[in-house]
Amino acid sequence: MSQLPKHVAIIMDGNGRWAKQHKIATALGHRKGVEALREIIRYSSDTGIGVLSLYAFSTENWKRSREEVDALMGLILDFFKSEIEELHQKGVRIRILGDVEGLPEKQMRTVRSAEDTTRNNIGLQLNIALNYGGQAEIIRAVKSLSNKAMRGEIQLEDIDEQAFQKELYTHDQPMVDLLIRTSGEMRISNFLLYQCAYAEMLFPQVLWPDYTVEMYRQDLQKFGKRERRFGGREG
Ligand code: FPP
Repeated sequence: MSQLPKHVAIIMDGNGRWAKQHKIATALGHRKGVEALREIIRYSSDTGIGVLSLYAFSTENWKRSREEVDALMGLILDFFKSEIEELHQKGVRIRILGDVEGLPEKQMRTVRSAEDTTRNNIGLQLNIALNYGGQAEIIRAVKSLSNKAMRGEIQLEDIDEQAFQKELYTHDQPMVDLLIRTSGEMRISNFLLYQCAYAEMLFPQVLWPDYTVEMYRQDLQKFGKRERRFGGREG
């Protein structure tokens, strides 16, 4: 493959519509979505993608029905319990983006333990956004820098892009090269706002449970063909 993105971010949209299409409960749409995500993670790891960020649960998702939130929390728990061994074996490092403290106790302990288990792995860096909001992440960074400035640990002049990036959940990782959002919606929906500054974006029409590894492979290829200028001119 000509040029592989170092960091791919995915908004896995369309589980609800998929369930509706198939006349089944929304929760089953999400379950099908987990199957798709398993394949995409495996392929990313095998292909040598550096970082894969998945939007699993936003701070706004708490507004959904109790039933749907419970179903998602259950799937998250099952996912970590059933996948951790294989991921660890493949050298995948798991990192949670978001306010883990705000998750139910069981989920919090399970995801923290997955982070601990895989801490030293140097394969695919798998970021899973849980109870995550991009604006909240930026505000968290601002507060941390302000605190450091107030305590005299840094000067105002020290605050630049590099210093700011160090305060993000993705502090030691490259910025997003490619953002994929399925289901045809063309929005960023508060996902990795800072990190997507120069991201190429693709919006495949398919609903997330129907997104296959072959489609992903083609999207990675489309990225390889795009010319990226980061605000400069070609040549
Ligand atoms: C968007 O579909 C998807 C979500 C809000 C959740 C995505 C979560 C998973 C795929 C499973 C859980 C994650 C892990 C890591 C195990 P939607 O429900 O907004 O779809 P709609 O717009 O068609 O209703």
